[in-house]
Amino acid sequence: MTTNELGFVHRFEPATVPGRAPLLLLHGTGGDESDLIGLGRTVAPGAALLSPRGKVLEGGMPRFFRRLAEGVFDENDVRRRANELADFVAAARAEYGLAAPVALGFSNGANIAAATLLLRPEALAGAVLLRAMVPLAEPPAADLAGKPVLLLSGAMDPIVPDENAARLAAQLRKAGAAIEHRVLPAGHGLSQADINLARQWLDTASAVAA
Ligand code: MLT
Repeated sequence: MTTNELGFVHRFEPATVPGRAPLLLLHGTGGDESDLIGLGRTVAPGAALLSPRGKVLEGGMPRFFRRLAEGVFDENDVRRRANELADFVAAARAEYGLAAPVALGFSNGANIAAATLLLRPEALAGAVLLRAMVPLAEPPAADLAGKPVLLLSGAMDPIVPDENAARLAAQLRKAGAAIEHRVLPAGHGLSQADINLARQWLDTASAVAA
């Protein structure tokens, strides 16, 4: 069901299996609230799914924050939008009676998830970041003590240089996150290995979060 309440167009699917952490699904550029529902069901069967649509439009394509060019972000907008997203998560948790969600973000969605971890750590129980890059060159000192984060990068990704993904991993590690960073033989698109690794990792992370 898609609704326009709580400040974001979004879909919500209640849990069918108790004890799993809810997933916050964050789509890539040009996606919408329906994009990652299938992926969410595959990697976390039975978990509640909360899936907002990014509010920024780039040539008609929804995104979660403004960019000036590919890989060049409007960091003021990143900050504003990450806070807006964290407020939405808080409102949705109250409305739907949810525990703190684990974010599952792809590309632009992974980047806003990383920014939300660094700016509003209380909003998320952890995150799976698929093809993420550094959203804030100089993030504030955040306390991510022990928060589980899985970062999956593509060795042949034309959008995210290796060095950039490694820098994001270092930022999150420095803030105390329990980060696992894997570089897969893939491009910017997802591979079966991403799905398998995300599923295995979420099985463990959900057990920790429950
Ligand atoms: C971004 O703009 O967040 C990244 O360049 C990835 C993308 O959405 O293409």
